[in-house]
Amino acid sequence: MEKELVISRAEIARRVDELGRRISERSPDGLLVVGVLKGAFIFTGDLVRAISTPLEVDFIRVASYGSDRCSSGRIRLSKDLETDLAGREVLLVEDIVDTGTTLAWLLAHLHDRGACSVKVCALIDKRRRRREKVSIDYYGFRREGFLVGYGLDYNERYRELPDIFELKAS
Ligand code: IMP
Ligand code: MG
Repeated sequence: MEKELVISRAEIARRVDELGRRISERSPDGLLVVGVLKGAFIFTGDLVRAISTPLEVDFIRVASYGSDRCSSGRIRLSKDLETDLAGREVLLVEDIVDTGTTLAWLLAHLHDRGACSVKVCALIDKRRRRREKVSIDYYGFRREGFLVGYGLDYNERYRELPDIFELKAS
């Protein structure tokens, strides 16, 4: 498998900074930041350091059964939040929104748990295969193709790469 650098660490850093500033302006009263494991672990770590309003951090983990490159739409919660969501303003931080199935499931779950508002920040917004109507409040980049690095994996590999690459069958 060949990989081509498509988003550099410098571009990521610039964009994370912009997102942090915008989120801080729009949520001056503070936030509960919920990172979605594992893909968003690095993005969440960088993003919270770019936000200047008071916040708390928690993580949730969902598993979706499917082939290695796309989710099947069958989602299972594998680690729930540890924070009481009642009345909280939540910022959900996702790695990639593709069909939107995972995000739609997460939004329903957070509302069930009592969140009063949920905004979404996705590192990558892929729109071509979108099936669910989900609204993304903040996105890092709009890009198609299969991406790895900066937390994103292919069968658990490449998460540690500091830049984002597109994987291409060679
Ligand atoms: P969705 O439920 O179809 O929106 O799929 C979203 C999930 O699929 C993401 O949270 C990722 O875990 C995974 N995914 C989708 N596209 C990619 C990709 O290009 N690289 C790595 N994981 C991906
Ligand atoms: Mg994944």
